Amino acid sequence: MRIDIITVLPELIKSPFEASILKRAIDANLVSVHFHNLRDYTTDNYKSIDDTQFGGGAGMVMTCEPIDKCISALKAERNYDEIIYMTPDGKTLNQGIANTLSLKENIIILCGHYKGVDQRVRDMFVTKEISIGDYVLSGGELGAAVLCDAVIRLIPGVLGNETSALTDSFQDNLLAPPIYTKPRDYKGHKVPEVLFSGHAANIEKWREEQAYKRTQERRPDLLDD
Ligand code: ADE
Repeated sequence: MRIDIITVLPELIKSPFEASILKRAIDANLVSVHFHNLRDYTTDNYKSIDDTQFGGGAGMVMTCEPIDKCISALKAERNYDEIIYMTPDGKTLNQGIANTLSLKENIIILCGHYKGVDQRVRDMFVTKEISIGDYVLSGGELGAAVLCDAVIRLIPGVLGNETSALTDSFQDNLLAPPIYTKPRDYKGHKVPEVLFSGHAANIEKWREEQAYKRTQERRPDLLDD
């Protein structure tokens, strides 16, 4: 998989890819991530990427031309499955979206800033608009990093144990059950007995019940579907 990230603040988004699972995925050539500084696609001396809003109103708007130049240069090199714009008015990211994107070959992620991008950029280029939650960030970069993490860990071969992504919360619309490690008794707080039974079916049944109970208590909305 190849991910191209278009941003005015590459320094804000690079570090998550330099550690842990994302770094391992890149080192193993399971994914490549490329950063494009929008200011490199400007033509004026000030390298400006934004301007005031037509019709008035506070806040600057990212202009069409640098984004057009950057996306067009990328599209001239290869086909893209999705051109994603990170925006608080996009569809809220969930595990299903991450699963779908993890199967794509080439994607572009466009990070917005200020008030966002000129609507014509969205109309002309963007194929998917994604929000990471109902709050406003100062830019799309942190959202793009969250999206990339959620997607990259699902690419086959990225996680050491292939089954571990399948037992994540949300993978089957349930939250994950409680988990325990040594010691068996920590300051009087004991690990549930069933986990020492060695009876795989009983353990699996207990985990399913716990996952269901936790989902019902914390996220009943997930059970509605
Ligand atoms: N840019 C600003 N806020 C955002 C959000 N909630 N999700 C994605 N991109 C954003």
